[in-house]
Amino acid sequence: MCGIVGYTGPNNSVGPIIEGLSRLEYRGYDSAGICLKVENELQIIKKEGKLDNLKELINLHKPFSHTGIGHTRWATHGAVTTDNAHPHGNEIFAVVHNGIIENATTLKKDLFHEGYQFKSQTDSEVFLVLLTKFFNEGNSTLISISKAFSSITGNSAFVILEKASDKLYAIKRSAPLVVGENREFREAYVSSDPFALVGFAPRIYFPEDGVICEGIVTGSEVTVNFYELDLTHSNRYKFQSNSMSVDATSKGPYEHYMLKEIYEQPALIDKLAAYYIKNEGRKILDEMKGFRAQEWHITACGTAWHAGLVIKNFLEQVNHQKASVDIASEFRYRHPILNHGDVGLFISQSGETADTLASQELCKEKGIPTFSIVNVEGSTLFRNADKNFLIHAGVEIGVASTKAFTLQALTGYLMGLAMKGSLDDSLHYSEIKLLSNRISDLCGQSDFIKDVAEQIYTKKGFIFTGRGKYFPIALEGALKLKEIAYVHAEGYAAGELKHGPIALIDEDIVNIALVGPELLEKTLSNVEEVKARRGIIVVVGPKNHPEVEQIADAYIPLDFNGLQNLSPLYVNVALQFLAYHIAKLKGTDIDKPRNLAKSVTVE
Ligand code: F6R
Repeated sequence: MCGIVGYTGPNNSVGPIIEGLSRLEYRGYDSAGICLKVENELQIIKKEGKLDNLKELINLHKPFSHTGIGHTRWATHGAVTTDNAHPHGNEIFAVVHNGIIENATTLKKDLFHEGYQFKSQTDSEVFLVLLTKFFNEGNSTLISISKAFSSITGNSAFVILEKASDKLYAIKRSAPLVVGENREFREAYVSSDPFALVGFAPRIYFPEDGVICEGIVTGSEVTVNFYELDLTHSNRYKFQSNSMSVDATSKGPYEHYMLKEIYEQPALIDKLAAYYIKNEGRKILDEMKGFRAQEWHITACGTAWHAGLVIKNFLEQVNHQKASVDIASEFRYRHPILNHGDVGLFISQSGETADTLASQELCKEKGIPTFSIVNVEGSTLFRNADKNFLIHAGVEIGVASTKAFTLQALTGYLMGLAMKGSLDDSLHYSEIKLLSNRISDLCGQSDFIKDVAEQIYTKKGFIFTGRGKYFPIALEGALKLKEIAYVHAEGYAAGELKHGPIALIDEDIVNIALVGPELLEKTLSNVEEVKARRGIIVVVGPKNHPEVEQIADAYIPLDFNGLQNLSPLYVNVALQFLAYHIAKLKGTDIDKPRNLAKSVTVE
């Protein structure tokens, strides 16, 4: 969601801020802005639309400033306009914000009655006005930040610039925030994502909630201070060296990050298996040997929720353990029954998804252990979990999650094998190797899937169907297609179609039927029902199957042999390619689809 980058140091802040914001573009945004301290003035340049619009303005003015903050906004309160874009500023402070101030309406009313004016419709400006009010009452900047922050509710991160100094201030509550330091070049940074600081700040700090961070650069050194809200020094932060490499974030020879990330999957699968079976990860899994939860409460959002559905099947079928799966935004409010002996299992690529974090918090309050399957080490989910299973996907830049899904599901599978004590079973190891080989083969067939895409991409709607272990894949396939191709797509259990959705079928609707070797006849009968109503049939099914060949208008043949439990992950990659090629034919912005954000830090 909103991206934040701040800089103070001896160089022009514009370069690192714009570079950082560009790196965060993948998270989704609708306007961008920058505030620079230029000769004792706070100069704000902002513009709705893409970052390029802001860059054009910057090129026009060519500003130079040692201290600045930048922001990409994903609108929550107030339309997408230049006025609502961040930073918000006045003659004393400028502020950028990520999150939601839940009591903004009440605060705004009170401040309005006290005579304060607002220039935007955002909740964020309320923080700026509060800050200004406390400062005007004679408080220092630090006290004003503390008071303003204590007045608001909701999850938020703020970065603040003041006219009176070159300091950077930041504070957060349940929203991502990282402070960076480059001692060699005497630079301090702040961002919503360590990725923005790769190559700039080798030392990074993750403050805990309610810790005020202050970045100061003097002639000879850079200092980062941390304060509690009562302004005593705080040690509630974690230090980490920023080990990410800039190379890992390049697109390489691929046209899109999404494509690159699809292609990365075979190698990442092999690496993950080696990590958990043979290398350092083994220790974490060995601790799981014999472990049983009375019930697993799997909770996640979007694609990660679909991975949760796959893992539930593994836990039930491989481990014979009870598992329920919830969408995090539902779990947190539905008063789930959580008993002693249960475990909360949270799945997330970013580890910063607001609803997933709130669900984790709920489990913690109820005293049940929380485990995570997560990509970003050091993320909030990671830090708050009792046990973490990293998926080691590397940075996922395409907004549409691909490799993270595969590795989340595989990590859940490995966790299950560890509980069963069958991690060394060579059958499982070869099944995983087979999976990466088959996905590799599929990568070689991408052009063939493109031909299928060409046959169907103009159609009105897409219904993905699957039974059993392919049902979560039907949901995931439909989500991928709708998010990047902007077409209506739904995933259904194949047997459920006749209970309503079949009314949609006509010659302009495509049924992407996932036909695995299990329940094949039953699934094909469901396909026949669609065909009888003139629906277009695309089967993703076993190769060399005459019955399937005969029924399908287009056919993506797969080799299911020997894949057993992991075949859903294989089928899913075929659907990733299909969504990619349909989106490409439609000419959408594949890596940054409209309206979407990569890390959803508001509920
Ligand atoms: C879809 C997608 C989203 C995320 C969801 C959860 O392609 O990327 O549905 O899966 O927003 O995000 P994380 O995994 O970061 O918690």
